[in-house]
Amino acid sequence: FTEDGKIDKKRKQDTLHSKYNDTAVVDWEADQMRKAVKADTRVPEKEYEFVFDSSQAVEFVSDPVDVERERLEELIAEEEERIKTIDETRKSLPVYQYRDELIKAVQEHQVLIVVGETGSGKTTQLPQYLHEAGFTKDGKKIGCTQPRRVAAMSVATRVADEIGTAVGDKVGYTIRFEDRTSERTILKYMTDGMLLREFLTDPELLSYSAIMIDEAHERTLSTDVLLGLLKDIVAYRPDFKLLISSATMNAQKFSDFFDGAPIFNIPGRRYPVDIFYTSQPEANCLHAAITTVFQIHLQQDPGDILVFLTGQDEIESMADNLAETCLKLGDQIPELVICPIYANLPSDQQRLIFEPTPEGARKVVLATNIAETSLTIDGIVYVVDTGFVKENVFNPSTGMESLEVKPCSKASADQRAGRAGRLGPGKCYRLYTKWAYLNELAANPTPEILRSSLASVVLLLLSLGITDLLNFDFIDKPAPDTLIKALELIYALGGLNENGELTKVGRRMAEFPTEPMMAKTLLTSSELHCCQAVLSVVAMLQEAGSIFYRPRERKEQADKARQQFVQTLGGDHLTLLDVWTKFVENGHSVQWCRDNYVQYKSLLRVRSIREQLERMCERMGLLDNETDLEHDRLVVGVMKSVVAGFFVNAAQLSKTGDAYRTMKKNQAVWIHPSSVLFGLKPPPKLLIYNELVLTSKEFMRTCIPVHEKWLREYAPHYYSDK
Ligand code: CDP
Ligand code: MG
Repeated sequence: FTEDGKIDKKRKQDTLHSKYNDTAVVDWEADQMRKAVKADTRVPEKEYEFVFDSSQAVEFVSDPVDVERERLEELIAEEEERIKTIDETRKSLPVYQYRDELIKAVQEHQVLIVVGETGSGKTTQLPQYLHEAGFTKDGKKIGCTQPRRVAAMSVATRVADEIGTAVGDKVGYTIRFEDRTSERTILKYMTDGMLLREFLTDPELLSYSAIMIDEAHERTLSTDVLLGLLKDIVAYRPDFKLLISSATMNAQKFSDFFDGAPIFNIPGRRYPVDIFYTSQPEANCLHAAITTVFQIHLQQDPGDILVFLTGQDEIESMADNLAETCLKLGDQIPELVICPIYANLPSDQQRLIFEPTPEGARKVVLATNIAETSLTIDGIVYVVDTGFVKENVFNPSTGMESLEVKPCSKASADQRAGRAGRLGPGKCYRLYTKWAYLNELAANPTPEILRSSLASVVLLLLSLGITDLLNFDFIDKPAPDTLIKALELIYALGGLNENGELTKVGRRMAEFPTEPMMAKTLLTSSELHCCQAVLSVVAMLQEAGSIFYRPRERKEQADKARQQFVQTLGGDHLTLLDVWTKFVENGHSVQWCRDNYVQYKSLLRVRSIREQLERMCERMGLLDNETDLEHDRLVVGVMKSVVAGFFVNAAQLSKTGDAYRTMKKNQAVWIHPSSVLFGLKPPPKLLIYNELVLTSKEFMRTCIPVHEKWLREYAPHYYSDK
């Protein structure tokens, strides 16, 4: 202290310096000193002699709590910034301006149809608004259905982000074989098929205060059946709210179906999109699409490209082709970021399409019609539309269901073009002629209920106690023929008795989250003591298209690796089983997968599917008969089980020996080149296919050879005329 009693600033510094810098003893004095420095008050003067001895120095460690706090403060700042931007983004969406009006409309009306452009915020915001308006009080949930699982997953992830919770906590999703919800979940996104299944356990949907049927204009089979069932619940539960969200098409139809429910229009922003047509029909769409992408990339202003293709195969092949071309051109062209998106793409790769495009590069998203309305990808300025879509087609006279590539509808084409004009003026390149657009495309897509087999749906309705199917309130009634075909199939599978009542087998088939034919296969395998093996086959079939890995530059090695699994006598089913068995034997090893050109991620999904199915089988007591069968008997067991479920899919080698004919209706079909039975000499006389795909021909994908006598053994009623 100085003479006049003030702190000597100079000395104070020196003292502190020596005390702290030399990591010396900190005692009472130092503490007082610090306080004094802070408060600038006097402390009693005291003799103090400090001797520094480095060997006795006290060691200090920095206080982890403080460091943590610093990090925490950083995180909090980041989080505040994030919330600010999320909040701003939420407020910038077109629906936000109508938030209060929307909530009021929901409070006043039990059913509300909401119409708005894609990207206006319907899917991500409306369930949140309902939550904010108190619809999740008293422990009830808000459910939102999506026709596609990719959309359910990505939207749930986005909303969880906005709310600041983990997926599976307050916000979750459920898709087939994957349940990311918990008892804390209040906003639940799910595929329409999953909500349909919930009716089995909660027929009045009592755990929900409100349901939003999203993308209703897509008119998937499950959505259509849901609308019929929900109409009942609305009449039954006055407290229950129903939102139906749709793109502009079809809104009036939904309103009429729900006795004149009001339509709430959210005016969207939409910029003009220039449409270009080809002058001639294009012989090779894929080739034209690749060329168009490079034309845009090299000649047009910045902006990302969205290409509409029909499916995984086409998308992968185009992605390979683009990558190869880019590699060849190297530095001569700016970077092109290639992002595929389709239903079976692993979720970590799906997220890539939402990543911002790097400076100077251009993103090209290769998508199925999933990007038409259910996913919003920011930054798209150019759309390339091949004009095709892959859909299910069911022929009630043959009972055959097949995936076909068909021209899309005008409504779809317009929707696709609209994707280019979300953020500013855009361009759409249609790879077909204007004449084709005007004359060859149907006005609207055909609802799925009018073009699919109804076996699963009919079985579900029957197990809900709805027996008068002809008078069920469908928004579009399916043809009576299709309903009858479905009943016939369920009867042939043993699900119905002579009086048209559900049997025990029927009820069990309905319980499985797979189609009835697959469920019957599992049920039969139990009687044949090979349920475990068939479980593996069934689980593998769910991922059959993505098991083998065949990179462009190592095709030969990949094919050679695949050869070691091939079971020609057991067809694709036992080949898949062999892959699974070896994967298990090798301890689910990633390295083993790499060495053998099989996809680890797909096998992980198979593992999870298998576990879930196994639990169901265990609960039903199907695993009680299990015995250790020797290999040949196991093979026969698997084959017979497949016959018991899939006998309608039997095809016989034709007399000329170059094609197959379906047993029942004598339709020509061919083995798909991806099958292990393709090109086999001699070809199997009789086989059963898992699915039909129509491209250049009607191809049978995933086949297993069987004996004719088994058909008579397991489907005597069906093949009695043989
Ligand atoms: O349902 P709707 O088409 O009306 O819009 P939405 O799906 O709710 O999307 C609103 C906005 O959320 C989009 O413009 C995207 O910017 C954002 N979003 C996102 O970033 N990631 C997603 N997976 C979904 C939406
Ligand atoms: Mg949406």
